[in-house]
Amino acid sequence: MTAAKPAHLGFLVSHRGSNMQSIIDACKDGRLNAEAVAVISNNGDAAALERAENAGIPAYHIGGTNFPDEQERDRVIRDTLLRHKVDLVILAGYLKKIGPGTLRAFKGRMINIHPSLLPRYGGRGMYGMKIHQAVIAAGETETGVTIHLVDDAYDSGRVLAQRRVPVKSDDTAERLAERVLKVEHVFYVETLEKILSGEIPLLQ
Ligand code: GRF
Repeated sequence: MTAAKPAHLGFLVSHRGSNMQSIIDACKDGRLNAEAVAVISNNGDAAALERAENAGIPAYHIGGTNFPDEQERDRVIRDTLLRHKVDLVILAGYLKKIGPGTLRAFKGRMINIHPSLLPRYGGRGMYGMKIHQAVIAAGETETGVTIHLVDDAYDSGRVLAQRRVPVKSDDTAERLAERVLKVEHVFYVETLEKILSGEIPLLQ
């Protein structure tokens, strides 16, 4: 029996790209039967674009500054992903909404990671440190990581997998963010492996 052909992964990222990096590393060392084929950022200064270039992956800046027309931007993002024959779109710290054309082309084939137990601490305005600050302010004893399908609203697509992370009584938002991020790096790769093997179905 021949092994399944590696899945083509396309990334949408806005800043640091540490989750993207952990997935790229897992592709390179054979933990994932996948290949990173394109990286797109709305932010021309994103460290994630540099990471992509260092890894030899085609990297594109497609954002409001160089593509001010929203419809055109959506079309260029979609066409870039299609041109690279992307099977699965991975959002990893992408702070923009996905346009309708891109959503339609990749419906059920686009996933995101969010550093809380959705539906708690998600939605518009809930990103980065704000999430962890809100978790601490509410006195939660646990938080976590969610991987979900992407739809046309923020953080609202069907949940595919969640992992819990304890909140310690002396946690600051910074310490909690660090602990959650470490879990993200492992959990995104593990969940992708299950998605690629069919153990976690994207379509219902
Ligand atoms: C992560 O916490 C992710 O869950 C959220 O944005 C952050 C991105 O971090 N959506 P990085 O760019 O992967 O380092």
